[in-house]
Amino acid sequence: MKMDQEVKQSLVDAALEARAAAYTPYSHYPVGAAILTRSGNIYRGANIENASYPATVCAERVAVFKAVSEGEKEFVALAVVSRNGATPCGICRQVLSEFAKDLPILIANEDGAIRSETNIKLLLPEAFGPGDLEQ
Ligand code: THU
Repeated sequence: MKMDQEVKQSLVDAALEARAAAYTPYSHYPVGAAILTRSGNIYRGANIENASYPATVCAERVAVFKAVSEGEKEFVALAVVSRNGATPCGICRQVLSEFAKDLPILIANEDGAIRSETNIKLLLPEAFGPGDLEQ
């Protein structure tokens, strides 16, 4: 699927909308994510915190797990929105790299402005992956 500017911006807009549902009573740092699948569907995610802090789940993983649990494992791009345009955390990088070795990632701030475009290979070089478990 071609990623023109319009497609990129609509993915960022979906992440921005997803961010509105973030549950962040502890950090007050809402994050929104939206992942576009090869079939053209968009799955959204927001971070969901917990009083037992380590039980918190990031927006990116919520979006990926929603997609995978619906049978979608082929991803075209991911958009992530936070107030300062932060990149995915280490755990999310590992989860993303499981499914897409060179997934494009759009990083945007809360105005929906794309701050940078990166990819999972750059964010997690030399990742441990499914191939390492092959006999
Ligand atoms: N967070 C995300 O949702 N994605 C990231 O990649 C970075 C961190 C969330 C987790 C927690 O709810 C809050 O941001 C502060 O760490």
